[in-house]
Amino acid sequence: MSKRIVTIVGARPQFIKAAAISREIKKYTDIEEIIIHTGQHFDKNMSDVFFDELEIPKPKYFLDIHSSSHSQMTGKMLAGIEDVLLQEKPDIVLVYGDTNSTLAGALASSKMHIPIAHVEAGLRSFNKKMPEEINRVLTDHVSNLLFCPTKQAVRNLKAEGITSGVYHVGDIMCDATVFANNYISKNLDRFVNQFDLKSGDFALMTIHRQESTNDEETFNELMSYAKKFSEKNNLKIFFPVHPRIKKLIQKYKEKNNFYFLDPLSYFETQYLLSKASFVLTDSGGLQKEAYFHRVPCITLRSETEWIETLESGWNRLWTVDSYNSRKPIIDYGLGYGAKSIVEILSNRL
Ligand code: UD1
Repeated sequence: MSKRIVTIVGARPQFIKAAAISREIKKYTDIEEIIIHTGQHFDKNMSDVFFDELEIPKPKYFLDIHSSSHSQMTGKMLAGIEDVLLQEKPDIVLVYGDTNSTLAGALASSKMHIPIAHVEAGLRSFNKKMPEEINRVLTDHVSNLLFCPTKQAVRNLKAEGITSGVYHVGDIMCDATVFANNYISKNLDRFVNQFDLKSGDFALMTIHRQESTNDEETFNELMSYAKKFSEKNNLKIFFPVHPRIKKLIQKYKEKNNFYFLDPLSYFETQYLLSKASFVLTDSGGLQKEAYFHRVPCITLRSETEWIETLESGWNRLWTVDSYNSRKPIIDYGLGYGAKSIVEILSNRL
């Protein structure tokens, strides 16, 4: 009888990670994957485009839960996911990263005694004001299999007393970048025609996190830093706009070197990254993707979970002026994280 995995996704970075795992699961004829999309991200260019580009199987369940407070969102997801789990009776539930969809999936499963596998376990910013930090700590503490992207993540878990079911598998966003590079190189004309840009004359910038956007003063400080940076280095700033900050950027509309874009697809982002001189971001994923493309990054936060990017000299916090000397990050692996994860899952099922 085939084994059943329920995968829970809801936000953009989760679609990218889940795609890498789904591609591996498809190679196993004795594993069936059922996808729940919570609906946290719902716009076409925040959700559908990722399913299309990355050929992710269509979710069997779409819960349509979004745009409310953290507790309301998480609470509604908890109830919706429980209904599905009662119906599907999976052998294991897979959750990704640190969003409200991750926590809701993990809590619903743990209350039903369904084993949980957490992909991207063990990361810590040690800043409990971030909703993501709460989500990842709680999820790790109810998970049975914890797939860590780095050795530091394994150490973080150990410090909290979690040692069983912990695996260092590398970063599956590296798998995703390898997949994207392959696609882009075969379809380069599409991207070259789509973006009128000169390699190396622009930086790619994103801001979306609650702690950078809830208070307008902080957001303005980050924008003013980016403006000075672009003037000093004579760079344009390409800035795909997350729905959360649409209002905040109104007063910056197309001035001071800023070029605002609609949210980009995964392949579009990777293409721009490969041509950029710098990345300025508060996103966790982009900090690592900058490294995968060997583009220096400036993180627009006061700390990061991805400390290897700082140590390796490819990333610095905006509050620090210089980079460490450069070296490769061995911990992230070479793009076989998803393969290792599905092998481990298959042995445990
Ligand atoms: C969420 C995650 C964050 C992750 C990010 C990736 C949590 C707590 N946060 O943040 O960790 O890095 O996703 O992008 O789970 N919106 C739309 N259309 C969409 C998606 C969102 O209009 O397709 C709007 C929502 O209605 C809301 C705002 O954007 O008003 C924020 O969305 P939300 O999902 O709450 O959090 P993110 O900022 O995307």
